[in-house]
Amino acid sequence: MEELIVNGGKRLEGEVFVSGAKNAAVAMIPAAILANDVCVIENLPYIDDVISLADTLNEMGVKCDFLDPHTLRIDSRNLNNFCATYEAVKKIRASYYLLGALLGRYKQAEVAFPGGCNFGTRPIDQHIKGFTALGAEVVVEHGMIKARADKLVGTQIYLDVVSVGATINIMLAAVLAEGTTTIENAAKEPHVVDTANFLNSMGANIKGAGTDVIRIVGVKKLSGTNYMIIPDQIEAGTYMIAGAITRGDVTVHNLIPKHMESVSAKLLEMGVELEEGDDYIRVKAKDRLKAVNIKTLPYPGFPTDLQPQMSALLSIAEGTSIITESVWENRFQYIDELKRLGADIKVEGRVAVIKGVKKLSGAQVSATDLRAGAGLVLAALAAEGKTTINNLQYIDRGYEAIEKKLNAMGAEIIRVKK
Ligand code: EPZ
Repeated sequence: MEELIVNGGKRLEGEVFVSGAKNAAVAMIPAAILANDVCVIENLPYIDDVISLADTLNEMGVKCDFLDPHTLRIDSRNLNNFCATYEAVKKIRASYYLLGALLGRYKQAEVAFPGGCNFGTRPIDQHIKGFTALGAEVVVEHGMIKARADKLVGTQIYLDVVSVGATINIMLAAVLAEGTTTIENAAKEPHVVDTANFLNSMGANIKGAGTDVIRIVGVKKLSGTNYMIIPDQIEAGTYMIAGAITRGDVTVHNLIPKHMESVSAKLLEMGVELEEGDDYIRVKAKDRLKAVNIKTLPYPGFPTDLQPQMSALLSIAEGTSIITESVWENRFQYIDELKRLGADIKVEGRVAVIKGVKKLSGAQVSATDLRAGAGLVLAALAAEGKTTINNLQYIDRGYEAIEKKLNAMGAEIIRVKK
């Protein structure tokens, strides 16, 4: 077990480079098995979720080799297994993408109920609804989701909730189906678009990704490809907030400014200065920032995956902020940890009321999930004195070298074995 020890109160200054998008990576790695061929995915983040997925595919007869830490070669010509067991998938929520990919290629899949981050119920009824509409029979028994079809036939699918996972999973199952599938009320996140582009580079025919209607014309087969993943919107936002929370001067490179609009708008409203280039945003903050209200929403709304990081920032802003979490019903579990650092926050259901305090002070805290962990790291950077953060396995699932990137800008963080 490891922990991070943060010596807070340092102003961050300098540059940071964003890695490839985790939530695109965890969709594309399973998607690669749709071709009986070799795919090479570049600009992958080197994080535990990617490594776990590569291990899972290896166990299924796929040959996954890291050509370097950010490039994975996936040879699925010898895939010999339709089943991903609990042992293989318990760590990764996104293992559900194996269902769509296996079903698409073999019309048969068995995948254990997904594990992953811990913030309440995470249903997959919309994924199952999509597979069923395409002609699969889906049953859940002994903790396994089993899907099987004689053939998959394109159809019109309306999602009852805007779901990233269901949108991507239905695309995976539909690319090799007969005829045309239409997904209505589809998610529009950058990683949905990137996954569609990846599949198109393999020979799929997907149009409309990035809007709420996606049209997939089934093709007979997909082939291997070389593909470079987009930058991670959430990692980029995390480092932008790191600049603001330390009243620093931080340039976040290798991001797509358009993907950051909802975050940039809130930071500007708080009084942060932003300078935007083609692929970077410079974040400067001098004085105490102002409170703002935020409601998390599907893209292009404010991302739920930056909600904890923003709570950390608002906890030292001037005035009272209200955050409404409208995507996940139980994503405020980390607030008790933030309070240990001196934050003044009350949670009522899906709403957190944050009264800004003048300063936070170091304490011992635990990450309760991936983004909560990132929020605690940011709060610790601003807190006076020493903060110890444990449960790093959550943070390592999704952030590549977080302490190295922050230390390069003047943070003082060390990782120690407990
Ligand atoms: C993805 O999860 C991300 N994970 C999450 O990021 C992110 O928080 C979430 O999208 C929302 O942006 C990955 O991409 C691997 P959803 P996903 O299906 O796809 C409800 C991170 O920190 N819903 O878009 O599982 C659900 O309860 C992770 O990187 C149903 O009701 O999320 C939620 O309220 C955490 N039925 C809402 O939809 C379903 O079948 C959005 O969920 C599916 C979802």
